[in-house]
Formats: sequence, C-alpha cells, structure tokens
Amino acid sequence: MSAQIIELELDDWARAHSRPEWTAAVEAGKVLYFPRLGFQLRDEEQALLREDMLAAGTRNVSLGADGVLKGAGGSAAEQQALAAMVGRFRQQALRLVDGLLPAYRGLLRVAPTSFRPRQVETRAQSVRADDQRLHVDAFPSRPNYGERILRVFANINPHGVPRVWRVGEDFETVARQFLPRAKPYRLWQARVLNALHVTKSLRSEYDHLMLQLHDLMKLDEHYQRSGGQVSMPFAAGSAWVCFSDQATHAVMSGQFMVEQTLHLPPGREANPQASPLAILTRLRGRPLVGVGAGTPR
Ligand code: SIN
Ligand code: FE
Repeated sequence: MSAQIIELELDDWARAHSRPEWTAAVEAGKVLYFPRLGFQLRDEEQALLREDMLAAGTRNVSLGADGVLKGAGGSAAEQQALAAMVGRFRQQALRLVDGLLPAYRGLLRVAPTSFRPRQVETRAQSVRADDQRLHVDAFPSRPNYGERILRVFANINPHGVPRVWRVGEDFETVARQFLPRAKPYRLWQARVLNALHVTKSLRSEYDHLMLQLHDLMKLDEHYQRSGGQVSMPFAAGSAWVCFSDQATHAVMSGQFMVEQTLHLPPGREANPQASPLAILTRLRGRPLVGVGAGTPR
C-alpha cells in the first residue's frame, strides 16, 4: 500500500503555501498531516474542554455559517465562549485551505464547523453509525451528486492524547472490491425516498453507490480486520486535511477535536478524473448523475 498519509512541516495556519503535488495527493484520497500545526486555545477556553459542553443526546456541537451554535451544553456564557473558539478555528481552517489548495479558491461552500468533545472509544453506536469502522463519508438524507467533502481536523486534546485513526487503501481499490456487492440503483426507490422526505432531494445513482460503499465497508467484519490499512495517531496539537468522501477512514480513540467541512462542486477538482464520481462512473460505465443518468437534478 503506497503511503496514504503525507506529513508536512507547516506550523502557521496563515502561512501555508501550495504545491501541485499536495493538491494531487489530497485529490488521490490521501491525508495531509500537519504534526506541528496546533489550534491554540486561549487560557480561559481550556475550561470548555468538557464532555458536558455537549447537550444530552447530540453527537457534536456545531457552529453554522450564520454564527448560531447548536448542540452545546454549559451556561450561556460558556456557549458564547465556545462559539468564539469554534469561529476562530473556522477562520484558521479557511486560511489554511486557501493557502494550501488555491485551485479551490472562490469555489468552496462553507459548511458548519464542529466541536467534538466526546471520548471516541466509549461511544456505543449501531454498525452503520459507527465511525470506528473503516468507511468513506456519505450522507443518507442529503444527496450531493458528486459535490466533494473536504475536511480540516485539529486535535485539541489538552492532555497529549492522540486521535487515532485507521486509514485504508485508495478509493478505487476499495470501490472495485465492494461495487460488485452493491444493490442496483432503482429510480423508483429514489423517488419514494424523496416523496417521503427521507432524502432532501432525489438520490442519484452516485449517492446510492456511495452509501452502498459506506454500508458494505462497515458491515464487512473481514474487511474491517484484514483490509489494507494503517493505524495513524494524530498527535494532540496537530491538524490534518482530507477528502473524507474518498479517504477510507475510521476513528478509534481520542477526545476533543474541532473540524471544518468545505464543499467543492463536482468537477472542480484540479484533476476531476481522480474523484470518486469519475472513478465510479468509469467502473459502472455510465453517467451516475444528471442528464443521461435517468436522474434529473
Ligand atoms: C469520521 O469522519 O468518521 C469521524 C472522524 C473523527 O471523529 O475523528
Ligand atoms: Fe467519517
């Protein structure tokens, strides 16, 4: 397995420069790892690193593009401080991506920023929701027609605890393995799901296949144990970037992370041919979204 993780020496969010091979690496589904790029908390923010800063029954705290904080516990003053901290991370993540991946400048749509204070290894979850199993990110209710999911992560654990991921093989290798087991796409089923508002819009064949890969990977015990993979401890005080719809990943342990999601429109990669949409389209031999796919957008 060729190296799925590329280590870079950057130590300042605002001073990233770009190299075509880094863009190519991230577009090949690799993880760019910045061991010295820490997100610095202010002294008074250390007190926000508590599991009960999460409201009961929620997975993450998230800060919307509108500045509204959702899913937070704690007092009103603590929530205000948390919103400021997460907002500051958002600005730094955007600066990083702007410097590192200038090909996407002006194209990215900023999704909510999350704060994840729960200890990963104590979370009990259904198999499909269990991110301790290798997967690519795909969302059941929000079809994206090939729009990309670019994520910036920072481990802000105050006690030096790493966030340990497993990173699997490249997307095409995994897709070739699981695609033969994927249920066929049925336009009528997509229409029913849409009519019942299970999905927010019509699920395309691309979205169907991405969900199938996500589920088949997570449900396959043998693949989880024996599929090509490396264990990767992301140090406290580090950051990493990947297309999480392409890099096969699982989170095994750790606590306290901030994360920024950015969406890139389909086909706007420096090399669109490397994308999951292009790979699945080649493997299926037909258009999977839009005109010609039988799935009007
Ligand atoms: C995931 O995207 O699967 C979770 C990543 C993490 O929480 O570290
Ligand atoms: Fe994931």
